[in-house]
Amino acid sequence: MKKIKIALLGAGTVGGGVWDILQTNKENITRNCGYEIEVEKILVKDATKKRKDGIPENLLTSNFEDIIYNDEIEIVVEVMGGIEPAKDYIVKALKQKKHVVTANKALLANHGNEIIKLAEDEGVQLYYEASVAGGIPIIQTLKESLAGNKIEKMMGILNGTTNYILTKMTKEKVDFDAVLKEAQAMGYAEADPTADVEGYDAAHKLTVLSSLAFGTSVKFDEVYREGISKITSIDIDYARELGYVIKLLAIGKEDAGTIEMRVHPTFISQSHPLASVNDSFNAIFIKGNAVGDLMLYGRGAGDLPTGSAVVGDIIAVIKGKDKPPVKAEEDTSTVKIIKPMGET
Ligand code: NDP
Ligand code: HSE
Repeated sequence: MKKIKIALLGAGTVGGGVWDILQTNKENITRNCGYEIEVEKILVKDATKKRKDGIPENLLTSNFEDIIYNDEIEIVVEVMGGIEPAKDYIVKALKQKKHVVTANKALLANHGNEIIKLAEDEGVQLYYEASVAGGIPIIQTLKESLAGNKIEKMMGILNGTTNYILTKMTKEKVDFDAVLKEAQAMGYAEADPTADVEGYDAAHKLTVLSSLAFGTSVKFDEVYREGISKITSIDIDYARELGYVIKLLAIGKEDAGTIEMRVHPTFISQSHPLASVNDSFNAIFIKGNAVGDLMLYGRGAGDLPTGSAVVGDIIAVIKGKDKPPVKAEEDTSTVKIIKPMGET
């Protein structure tokens, strides 16, 4: 069997999940891509720290040069998070003609255009399915399955941590900080959970989705953003009495050349399909001019669901690695981006 060597940057929640899946589903994965995937090195901050999942100590390094100058490594999988040094490492990997898979929505929302262009210029592949909605295959769906549509609207629950907190607050009387700690313990939250609670993470994801859905590069600071930190049990009781639930929604719309993107807590009718998306689950409701209404639902955070998307990307890279990469057309669109408040 042919072998392909990869490196992981990060062995935390997502890196641990990727490692688990590569071991547990080895046979299926090999059958699906025609290669045996071998993890050659794993970059961590502290190479002496005890790891779960039986990751062999000899694979760990805290020196990126062990990866970037190893010519046998063909794919670099960035699951460490943050802007720097993640950006620097991805740029270096692409320049060394290594394919890259990343789960890093903060990086993509802020520097996605530059990184995507670099991958195209270097003739290597860049995949980022895990960056939005964990295990839900939304990126490939927008890039391929729905590519024949004009997307008119997207409305999603894109953050597992806040959905977990709001679900708990809706079902029982709970202390906000205690529930946030639970979400952190389950590996849902970002390193700095302010990113979840204040809606930055959902706004990062909406930026990534909007660029794909509306065919133009949008900027993170063009998204209106408001988090859930001001939501109290009184708001939740009030919503219930009126027949609503409160969800942190990410909404993107295009109408006559104008794009609107916003993230904020929203009253949703109890009968709407998004109202029953609970715990760390995510869902994305899409309206395309050909497909009509569509909803994708699944686990939006956590080790194995997110690892599933990352491993899917690794397999996609392997399957396409010997084909010439497709270069996107330059973005010449003239859409206007507005920052409104209003009806969903
Ligand atoms: P964790 O904090 O659990 O893990 C981060 C890993 O990266 C750790 O192994 C850490 O090393 C390593 N690391 C961090 N900084 C450095 C550095 N400067 N140099 C070397 N190694 C470093 O993060 P997650 O696994 O939760 O998240 C990783 C990425 O995946 C983020 O971009 C996140 O937004 C994204 N993501 C997370 C999801 C989730 O459910 N958690 C879901 C979807 C995407 P050490 O172990 O030594 O500290
Ligand atoms: N912190 C993120 C969330 C992880 O809670 O949804 C998944 O992207």
